[in-house]
Amino acid sequence: MKPTVLLLLALFLTPLHATDHPPAAAIASAHPLATEAGFEVLNAGGNAFDAAVAVSATLAVVEPYSSGIGGGGFWLLHIAEQDRQVMIDGRERAPLAAHRDLYLDAQGEVIPKASMDGALAAAIPGVPAALDHLTQHYGRMPLSVALAPAIRLARDGFPVTEHYRRMASFRLAALNKDKEAARLFLRQGQAPALGELIRQPELADVLKRMANDGADGFYHGEVAARLVAGVRKAGGIWTAKDLADYRVVERAPIRGRYRGFEIISAAPPSSGGIALVTMLNILSGFDFKALDESTRLHLIVEAMRRAYRDRAEFLGDPDSVAIPSEHLLHPYYADGLRASMRKDKATPSASLPGAVRTDGGNDTTHFSILDQDGNAVSATLSINYPFGAAFVPPGTGVLLNDEMDDFSLKPGVPNAYGLVGAEANAIAPGKRMLSSMTPTFVRSDERLAILGSPGGSRIITMVLLGTLEAVDGKPPLAWVSRPRIHHQYLPDVIQHEPNALDNTTRQALQARGHTLNEQQPWGNMQAVVWDKATDRVEAASDPRVEGMARVDSTR
Ligand code: DON
Repeated sequence: MKPTVLLLLALFLTPLHATDHPPAAAIASAHPLATEAGFEVLNAGGNAFDAAVAVSATLAVVEPYSSGIGGGGFWLLHIAEQDRQVMIDGRERAPLAAHRDLYLDAQGEVIPKASMDGALAAAIPGVPAALDHLTQHYGRMPLSVALAPAIRLARDGFPVTEHYRRMASFRLAALNKDKEAARLFLRQGQAPALGELIRQPELADVLKRMANDGADGFYHGEVAARLVAGVRKAGGIWTAKDLADYRVVERAPIRGRYRGFEIISAAPPSSGGIALVTMLNILSGFDFKALDESTRLHLIVEAMRRAYRDRAEFLGDPDSVAIPSEHLLHPYYADGLRASMRKDKATPSASLPGAVRTDGGNDTTHFSILDQDGNAVSATLSINYPFGAAFVPPGTGVLLNDEMDDFSLKPGVPNAYGLVGAEANAIAPGKRMLSSMTPTFVRSDERLAILGSPGGSRIITMVLLGTLEAVDGKPPLAWVSRPRIHHQYLPDVIQHEPNALDNTTRQALQARGHTLNEQQPWGNMQAVVWDKATDRVEAASDPRVEGMARVDSTR
């Protein structure tokens, strides 16, 4: 091609190029060390997917109460070059020896804590396979580079924070039941002092094996043998085949539209995307600007109530049960739900058919990443309860999840989050348990918003409120700090943060028949936005906890 033609072509492409490439990269995560680890990898030439591996692995080390290589998660990817989105499903699976009555005694009653504490509570981890998959299929750097910060922090230690102390105190009894967990995460049976270093040399070793051998370093060989031996000795049911058989699944995300924005969110086995889109579909029928605050909140609550009713009724592992996604996501279905709502009156949940009860916790973790090529990752990872099963197979340093509790243990009996599930989420061998994790993109031609949060069943409503702020054009700080309200069908109450409702609004909601239930602040949202119209990148970390958002050029 002639130089003049090249020049013309370059001139022509320049404006396009400008909007296709953010002026800076951004990472918001629940821990400053994880955000830094992500930037370390971006600065070394990695892309958002390499950074996601670094952030995931670092969170696994420095937030042992929230996620880990003994756990699972969902990584929602936006691959800029192809304008394609995909969800990496690294959710844990039930061991092959699991069965629907695994946690019931001879009388058919749920055995207290059996699905929450100790080896029997642990499902087969998905994080190691997901990190390998991200690197192999989407990253630019070898796993050894992306895992380096995590390996360093596991080996040299990281300082205990206030949040660490809170979480360790909350799970003190469970952690003290397992010698390895207590040795690693407590000091003399107590939460370690602020600033104390937590070193995890065995975990550093497992991460090193993964750096060398990929997922095989975890699911095969010596590590796998130790994991299985440790679990079985402590009363669990894992086999070598469970680990060898684990695979991540690439899934098409759930999609919806709301006021000119495309919503791209987690697919089953998460309930998040479907519930989020259902709520937005319902709300799209109202003109919010014309409504006063209490009416707006009332309608949001009524949408929440209806979406959560459907959640446990219909949703589970898509590889095991048929999910009527098309029906649930259809605008006509939402029209029907909306028609059952009244502006002046709460609908008692008892008058709606179905049965769901959920509750939320304060662990699990979310991060949002944008790189300067416009690639993005929205990822929510979990080991379920704080410090998971509080069980570490000896010689591995791998804290195991208690994600088995996300199954419905017995029809009608609530799990740790108050969840009463249906057939769709019953335990079966190799099945993935239903999740509420809702990593999400909200985008238009002008904007790409990346958001998500931990918080058990309250995750989905947090993402809903964040999405409403984003669609209103507010900055990420507004999404993450917005006072929160939540309704989950049953119990039939509006949970709200202490500062969420003023007196007038309270009274107006009560007058409609709502019961208010004030709760401690919840959630830990991490958000990034790329505003193409103004060529700005912004990020924010939930002020309620101790995360860090950073925006910086990596070029
Ligand atoms: O996948 C889920 O829905 C749960 N295991 C998430 C748990 C959670 O967010 C805990 N607390 N914040």
